[in-house]
Amino acid sequence: MKQVTEPNHLQLNKQGQLKHFLTLDGLDKALLTEILDTADSFIEVGARSIKKVPLLRGRTVVNLFFEASTRTRSTFELAAKRLSADVLNLNISTSATSKGESLSDTLQNLEAMASDMFVVRHSQSGAPHFIAESVTPNVSIINAGDGRHAHPTQAMLDMLTIRQHKGCFEGLSVAIVGDILHSRVARSQIRALKILGVSEVRVIAPNTLLPVDIESLGAKVFGCMKEGLDNVDVVIMLRLQRERMEGALLPSEDEFYKLYGLTTEKLKYAKPDAIVMHPGPINRGVEIESAVADGPQSVILNQVTNGIAVRMAVMSMAMSGHVAGRDA
Ligand code: NCD
Repeated sequence: MKQVTEPNHLQLNKQGQLKHFLTLDGLDKALLTEILDTADSFIEVGARSIKKVPLLRGRTVVNLFFEASTRTRSTFELAAKRLSADVLNLNISTSATSKGESLSDTLQNLEAMASDMFVVRHSQSGAPHFIAESVTPNVSIINAGDGRHAHPTQAMLDMLTIRQHKGCFEGLSVAIVGDILHSRVARSQIRALKILGVSEVRVIAPNTLLPVDIESLGAKVFGCMKEGLDNVDVVIMLRLQRERMEGALLPSEDEFYKLYGLTTEKLKYAKPDAIVMHPGPINRGVEIESAVADGPQSVILNQVTNGIAVRMAVMSMAMSGHVAGRDA
């Protein structure tokens, strides 16, 4: 699949506003902060008895999920509904493409239904870029996770959660632990953390689960939890992404848990007020102990709640940037 290296000609309009949200690469601190501040303003909407604002009224949002998803798909749906959009959910793995229709034919049919926004999850890295380049200029594309490449709304909901608990990014030390190699979440998180100016991003993983270019992203590599977690403010755990693994990258899950699983004991290496995060789905006893996942330092469910506000922010910003770009 064609990979676009310079995405900003595609995702920003001439005024520098977001019109597609494909990757964090190339975005600046001001734009990321605008997403977080806009999301903050939507958190209050989720606490109301009538959880709706009219920003996307009359717009049609299509959730195009070519890969399984629970949290991401349902929070995108809720976000669009809370913005008053009409929402169509398509699980493509069980629909037209399985009857032989090509991706571009499926897209053309959806465009013919006057859709305004596609939220796309795909197993191929670069699929949302490809779609953004090929759809009519009327449609805005949001990346909901593509292959191992990027998951920008997940990273932004993680940043919102960190900011809520730690106040600011400067001075923080953040460790990301586990299957970095297959993780689009880790790639987007590292980008976001660097753009927002944290002091230190660490990755902790066995060599077999690290991408070769990891240090070029600005992350410091640690092979063990004792050193890697020492004095960190934030611990982000990742799932072993078995569906993307080819061959034996690990001796066994038991061995992985012993060395890299986050237990109450290992969490003591981090600062006493460190927060524990996980994008989900969590695998208890594989990468995280239940006592930690459900413990006082865990903010895993806050991440899920924040996902709605961040997705509302990104969708409303992209829609207004898209319309402004078209009218310019
Ligand atoms: C992640 C994903 O799909 O990339 N989950 C998510 O979006 N909440 C991480 C994972 O599947 O482990």
